[in-house]
Amino acid sequence: MRAITIPEPGGPDALVWAEVPDPEPGPGEVIVDVRASAVNRADLLQRQGHYPPPPGAPAYPGLECSGVISAIGADVAGWEVGREVCALLAGGGYAERVAVPAGQLLPVPDGVDLGDAAALPEVACTVWSNVVRLAGLARGETLLVHGGGSGIGTFAVQLGAALGATVVVTVRQAKHERLLGLGAAHAIDYREQDFVEEVRRVTDGRGADVILDIMGASYLARNVAALATGGRLVVIGMQGGRKAELDLGALLAKRASVAATALRSRPLAEKAEIVAGVREQVWPLVAAGTIRPVVDRRLPMAEAAEAHRLVESNAHVGKVLLTV
Ligand SMILES: NC(=O)c1ccc[n+]([C@@H]2O[C@H](COP(=O)([O-])OP(=O)(O)OC[C@H]3O[C@@H](n4cnc5c(N)ncnc54)[C@H](OP(=O)(O)O)[C@@H]3O)[C@@H](O)[C@H]2O)c1
Repeated sequence: MRAITIPEPGGPDALVWAEVPDPEPGPGEVIVDVRASAVNRADLLQRQGHYPPPPGAPAYPGLECSGVISAIGADVAGWEVGREVCALLAGGGYAERVAVPAGQLLPVPDGVDLGDAAALPEVACTVWSNVVRLAGLARGETLLVHGGGSGIGTFAVQLGAALGATVVVTVRQAKHERLLGLGAAHAIDYREQDFVEEVRRVTDGRGADVILDIMGASYLARNVAALATGGRLVVIGMQGGRKAELDLGALLAKRASVAATALRSRPLAEKAEIVAGVREQVWPLVAAGTIRPVVDRRLPMAEAAEAHRLVESNAHVGKVLLTV
């Protein structure tokens, strides 16, 4: 088969579409013939040599895919050859075939095109596990989503709105209309406006109950300032650095909490639990059309370098897909 290999870490042209050995299904795994994968921010870091795949994961990038099951390993129940699926991966989605632990498979939700289903697993699992399971977002609360136009952001806005929260996003001005169309109640231009002030203004001074943050260090102090009493800040990205000072007094006074999580490195059993939760609680919302995959563009897998350039420029809204 062919896969996107990274012979030497570097810029987008480090991605090389090359002939590689076919994967074999281990116990508890199936082989998926890939129809599409999607670019995640983490893939850019992996390409640069900063985010190696966890032990046992395929060497090729790609944290999610959609496709058709073509082989089944030992000890797999409930899935059959020919079934259309999408999947959360620890790597290897940028390929014609990939071995997937069965616990990370999801059916293609009703009404979603097989290729477009590749836009869902990573964002659905990340957003649901952090915003719902960890932070416990409740109906009537305010959710602040940083990077509303990202793959993660476009999903978080839709899920938050579907759960009855008021969703506020930070996003550059040019993308405001799109985010309001997806269900955000307020869009803040983080380049021109102070998001702490704006969040306070739109919540009558209360602040945000839950913040999903992708910036890390550069937003930490302001995120704590923007939290409501009892607020929960969940950091899932470090685009603004990893080290910053945390004012515990400010946190304590608000009885607030800060958490940071990663999905890729979790043990298989935890990923399977998250995937099962997404299937039960999120997939019905997708099948009902309340949440849709937000696809900016579809490019052939061999043009992965172009897709990385696009994501690096932040010109996209939602997901950039790579199709086989
Ligand atoms: N921990 C985990 O398990 C996990 C899992 C998945 C993703 N993530 C993280 O989640 C983040 C989003 O991933 P993705 O693949 O969806 O990203 P993406 O589509 O590449 O989008 C990144 C976004 O960052 C926004 N941005 C840049 N500077 C900003 C700022 N100062 N304030 C607010 N937004 C800003 C850009 O929006 P504008 O166009 O508005 O500038 C851009 O849309 C990444 O940091 C990724 O590493 C973490």
